Amino acid sequence: MEYKNTYNNINNRPIGFFDSGVGGLTVFDKVRKFLPNENTIYFGDTKNMPYGEKTQDELIGFADKIFKFFEKQNAKAVVMACNTTSAVTYEALKDKYKFRIYPIIQSVASILANLENVKNLCIIATPATIKSRAYSKEISKYNSDMNVKEISAPNWVRIVEEHRINQPQSIEQIKEVLADVGNPDGIVLACTHYPYLLDVLERFIPREKFIDPALYFAQNIKDDLAKNGLLNDKFEYEKFFVTSEPENFKIASQLFYKLENLPELIEL
Ligand code: DGL
Repeated sequence: MEYKNTYNNINNRPIGFFDSGVGGLTVFDKVRKFLPNENTIYFGDTKNMPYGEKTQDELIGFADKIFKFFEKQNAKAVVMACNTTSAVTYEALKDKYKFRIYPIIQSVASILANLENVKNLCIIATPATIKSRAYSKEISKYNSDMNVKEISAPNWVRIVEEHRINQPQSIEQIKEVLADVGNPDGIVLACTHYPYLLDVLERFIPREKFIDPALYFAQNIKDDLAKNGLLNDKFEYEKFFVTSEPENFKIASQLFYKLENLPELIEL
């Protein structure tokens, strides 16, 4: 009888990623580099973007539908490549599904809490993430001495999604938020859309002050999959889905990920 390695059947199941739009690609891109053999499905809920302006009930509803979609796709793990849903929905949904779930904030908090030479940390995020105070709560679990200041950047996600990054009005709106930052040791780009703005941000604050948690997050995902025997050994596919305007997604994503084809339009 031919020996059948049942683990392979488990391992080649896809990893799901989701966000309200192109933001999660800043995570996806890094995970792909760390784990080139994985099959992946990226879901951008563009119809409901921006998540940062939605209520907790709405966000739980969106995330739950997306998890169900990934369940149907037989995902082995789902990456919440979105700070807002990690902040607002993770607790409510974390035990509902069989696959592994990786929320960005909870995954990186211990690393942020112990960054060398960082005593004063500024978090810039969407209004919903700031309202939840998820960053300061999670960081204080690991380091209660760190000063965490949280400020919200209401327009930044739309600037990215509507590809208006270099327009004078956008630069003004970005500058206005930065005026409240003060002089911290580090500034966390706590929305996955914000790394798209780095070229503008560094006009006002040195680039090395900005921290993109996606790098720590991607490492963490790789380690956890490896620890649980869930790594795949052969890449077969990557798929992209959006809930509205596929063309727009393709254009807005260009800075981070070059899609060969248009993402598939889907209604949940
Ligand atoms: N990119 C997401 C985040 O990290 C959501 C942004 C939004 O749609 O408001 O929070």
